[in-house]
Amino acid sequence: TAGPTYEAIDPVRFIGNHSSGKMGYDIAVSAANLGASVILVSGPTNCKVQSSLIEVIPVVSAEEMYKACHEYYADVDVAIAAAAVADYRPKIMASQKIKKAAEEFTIELEKTKDILASLGAIKKKQFLIGFALETENEIENAKLKIQKKNLDLIVLNSLQDIGAGFGKPTNKVTFIDKFFNIEPMDLKSKEAVADDILNKVIAFFYE
Ligand code: CTP
Repeated sequence: TAGPTYEAIDPVRFIGNHSSGKMGYDIAVSAANLGASVILVSGPTNCKVQSSLIEVIPVVSAEEMYKACHEYYADVDVAIAAAAVADYRPKIMASQKIKKAAEEFTIELEKTKDILASLGAIKKKQFLIGFALETENEIENAKLKIQKKNLDLIVLNSLQDIGAGFGKPTNKVTFIDKFFNIEPMDLKSKEAVADDILNKVIAFFYE
């Protein structure tokens, strides 16, 4: 998965986030470069990819992303969740544009489905990789996420590292596997981080 999700407030407004989608698209390209057939479930982004090995499934909301992921999951060997999925969505989507009226306006939110956790819960043969964006107790929180979502590997992103994160061409990640082996990586281009992630996949299947 790649990109943000947009959660509709009314026909012209949504709740979204700053994810560019670049990390997820770079992972898809790295996998295709190794000869993999890739299904790229993508939220709204400006990223583009041209490869006969990559099928892009465009989605908008977390619910659409959930459905698309579950449609393909049974047949994949590896699933990598790089999307910045909205954790909450408006409880009600107004069918007409909301008009400006009162001084204050409250939108009630409800939780979206956790796509990655739902894939972990039904995991069979798949090697399942998630991302974690933490700002405090990073390693401990990432370890908890591995257990909670039944992951094989987590890619921990730190916003505290200069040059890492949303909208940047570079990223600094730490890999933590399900045995809690911790491997901090250097700051590098997102393309190089994508290659590192695919090398972890190769190591799992072939070493
Ligand atoms: N994710 C997902 N579905 C969601 C939310 C997150 O599949 N509804 C996935 C992301 O693609 C990412 C991982 O879960 O791979 C971690 O997301 P993150 O937002 O860091 O963690 P959360 O589990 O949402 O927890 P919190 O926001 O409390 O840190």
